[in-house]
Amino acid sequence: MGLLLKPVTPSFAAEASGVDLRSLDDAAVRAIDEAMDKYAVLFFRGQPLTQAEQVALARKFGPLDSGLRKATGAPTRFQHDELIDIGNVALDGEVAESSDQKLIGQLANQLWHSDSSFQDLPVKYSMLSAVTVPPNGGDTEWCDLRAAWDELPDETKRLVEGRTARHFAFHSRIMLGDDKYNETQLTRFPPVERPLVHVHPGSGRKVLFPSAHIDRVSGMSVPEGRLLVAELLEHATQPKFVYRHTWRAGDYVMWDNRATLHRGRRYDLKLRRDLRRTTTLERFTVSGH
Ligand SMILES: [Fe+2]
Repeated sequence: MGLLLKPVTPSFAAEASGVDLRSLDDAAVRAIDEAMDKYAVLFFRGQPLTQAEQVALARKFGPLDSGLRKATGAPTRFQHDELIDIGNVALDGEVAESSDQKLIGQLANQLWHSDSSFQDLPVKYSMLSAVTVPPNGGDTEWCDLRAAWDELPDETKRLVEGRTARHFAFHSRIMLGDDKYNETQLTRFPPVERPLVHVHPGSGRKVLFPSAHIDRVSGMSVPEGRLLVAELLEHATQPKFVYRHTWRAGDYVMWDNRATLHRGRRYDLKLRRDLRRTTTLERFTVSGH
């Protein structure tokens, strides 16, 4: 059986089925890539993966990146450096205390962002495998930044087109009061300038690209730029642009960080939540006019 797709919103996101993620052949990888260019978010149900299977699967879609851990230097509980720990499980395998720095650092994932937009080498896909999820809470939401651009008022399009924004790795964390990082950590990823509007390579469509990682906008004072980003986020995350995923163990969700933002939703931190992420690298295309 080949890849089957069932759209779940009018503009993006689809449920995918019909393939075994542990044994994708080249044709299936191509079919998923094509579907990603169209839908930007795909989710598969009932596909639990071992750590090794998850890493092998992700490698089929590009070189892997290990995320912010390169700066924090935090130890991992996984057998593979490329697996990024999402949830509240401590190194000893137990649910972390609410005061645990690892857990505190993850709270910024509840702000709208695109993974690792703060690093020089931009990322392409992120893929999350759900191992254990709480019975309620902890959903993840994605918003469609291509539809958000299409529906942006012309006056705002003129204001943002051609501008760049500065993405800083620790901005969203510091904004939440999580600011106990040393100089070595803070300087590991120097801030990166990115266009506020870019072209999505796979579809040729324009993308509005605000994020919680942005700390200033070119040609504006810091407060003016941050207010603009807040306004753009408000626009891009209207319910009509959002898909909300309620996790089940065994789910596998992949998304295109160049065409979407996402955020985790609040959950009871005492309940075990164990998700594992992999992320592939690719360069952005600079905005066309
Ligand atoms: Fe994320």
